[in-house]
Amino acid sequence: MSSATSAPISKFSGEYTPPGDKSISHRLAMLGALASGTSQFTHFLTAADCLSTLRALKDMGVSYQLEKAKDSLGADTDKLTVHGVGFSGLKKAKAPLDMGNSGTSMRLLLGILAGQAFDSTLIGDASLSKRPMKRVTEPLREMGAKISGVDDANFAPLTISGSQLHGIEWTNSIGSAQVKSAILMAGLYATRFTSVYEPVLTRDHTERLLKLFNATCDHRENKTSVRKTNMLRPVQFVVPGDFSSAAFFIAATLMVSGSDLKIVNVGLNPTRIGLFPILKRMGAFIQIEKLDNANEAVGNLRVKASQLKAVTLNKDEVPACIDEIPILMVLCALADGTSVLKGLSELRVKETDRIRSMVEGLKVMGAKIEEQGDECVIEGVSDLTGGTVKSYGDHRTAMSFMIAGLRAKKGIALDDVECITISYPSFQADLKRLSA
Ligand code: S3P
Repeated sequence: MSSATSAPISKFSGEYTPPGDKSISHRLAMLGALASGTSQFTHFLTAADCLSTLRALKDMGVSYQLEKAKDSLGADTDKLTVHGVGFSGLKKAKAPLDMGNSGTSMRLLLGILAGQAFDSTLIGDASLSKRPMKRVTEPLREMGAKISGVDDANFAPLTISGSQLHGIEWTNSIGSAQVKSAILMAGLYATRFTSVYEPVLTRDHTERLLKLFNATCDHRENKTSVRKTNMLRPVQFVVPGDFSSAAFFIAATLMVSGSDLKIVNVGLNPTRIGLFPILKRMGAFIQIEKLDNANEAVGNLRVKASQLKAVTLNKDEVPACIDEIPILMVLCALADGTSVLKGLSELRVKETDRIRSMVEGLKVMGAKIEEQGDECVIEGVSDLTGGTVKSYGDHRTAMSFMIAGLRAKKGIALDDVECITISYPSFQADLKRLSA
C-alpha cells in the first residue's frame, strides 16, 4: 500500500489525452477473443482491471500481444492484438479464473461462460468477493445456466457449468450495464431471442460492439435483442479516451481558479456523459467539439475554472454518471448552496461503499456533508481544510480525494493510492504534469 499527498496548486492547465476507456477495453478483449481471426485495438487500457480480463482469457487458451504504438496525434499508446479462438473455441481453464478487483470482468465473463461446454470457477479479491452477483446469476439461471456459489450464488467464488441456454425477456430495473451486458453475451449462445428492456438507459458499449463484431443484435433506444450467433468477425478499433477518468481533471480545472484545460479524443457516448447536464446546471464552462466516429462518439473538450452553484441530482440521472458521483460530491462540497444527490443506492455496492467512504473523507477535510439512506446532502464551503483520509482501496475514491486536496488549505494525506492502477495507472503523472 503506498500513500500520497495532495495540496493546493496555482492552476491546472494544458492539453491532455485521457487513457483508453475501461468499459470498452474489457468488451473488446472479450469479443476479440471470441472472433474468428485477429483483432487489433489501439489505445487499449492496460490498467489492472483490463489485465484481469486478459489473464482470464489467456487461461482459457486465448493468445494476445500488448505493445507500444503511436496514436493519431503521434503520442505513445498501447495496442492489443488478440488472436480470436472463434465463438466456441474457449478451453476450460486449469485453475480458478482470478478476476482481481474487476466487477466488469466477473459479470461479463459469467455471461460468456454460461454458454460454454465446460465448467469454470471465478474468484476475486476481498472487495470483489463482497459484491453482489445474484443480479447476474439469477437471470442467467433463468436462461438455463447452472451456477453455484456463496449464499446461493450471490458472492464469489462462483462455479458455472456450461449448459444449453435459452433466450429470456429481461428488464434492467437496477440500471446496471454490467448485468445487461452479461445477459446479452449469454444471449449469443442461447436459443430463441434474448431481449433486454431499459426503463433508464445504461452505457450501451456492448450493444454497439456486438454490431461491429457482426453479432445478430438489434439495438433500439430502450430495447436490445440478440440471437444465437455462430461467428464474430475480427475488428480494428481505436479506443476513445475514458470520460470517467477525464472527469477527475474536468473537476480539477473547474475547482482551481485560473485553470484552463483542453481534453483530446475523449469518449462522448451519450449514455456516459450524464455529468455534462449536471455541470451545466452548476454553471460550469465546458465547450464540446464533437469529432466524427462511426461506432462511439468522440470529441475534444475545453474546460475553464468556474464558480459552481449547488445542484439537485435525480435518481434517473444516476446511471449516466454512476462513476462520476464521487468527484461530483467533491464539486458540490465547494459549490455555492446546498446540493442534494438522490438515488445513490448503487454506490453502496461498488469497489467500496462509495457514499460512506466519500462522506467520511470529505468530513475529515472540513466539508459539510451528510448521508441519509441513498441520498447525500452537501452544503458548499468556500475552501476545504484538509487532513488524513482513506481510500479503502477504491480507485475512484482515491482519485476524488487527490483532486479535493487541490482545494484543501492544509492539503491531504491519502493512505492508499496504489489502487488507482485499477483504472488509471498514469493518474499521478498526469496530475503532476498539468499542475502548476
Ligand atoms: C460498467 C458499468 C457500471 C460502472 C462500472 C463499469 C461497465 O457498473 O460503474 O465502472 O463496464 O459496464 P454497473 O453496471 O454495476 O452500474
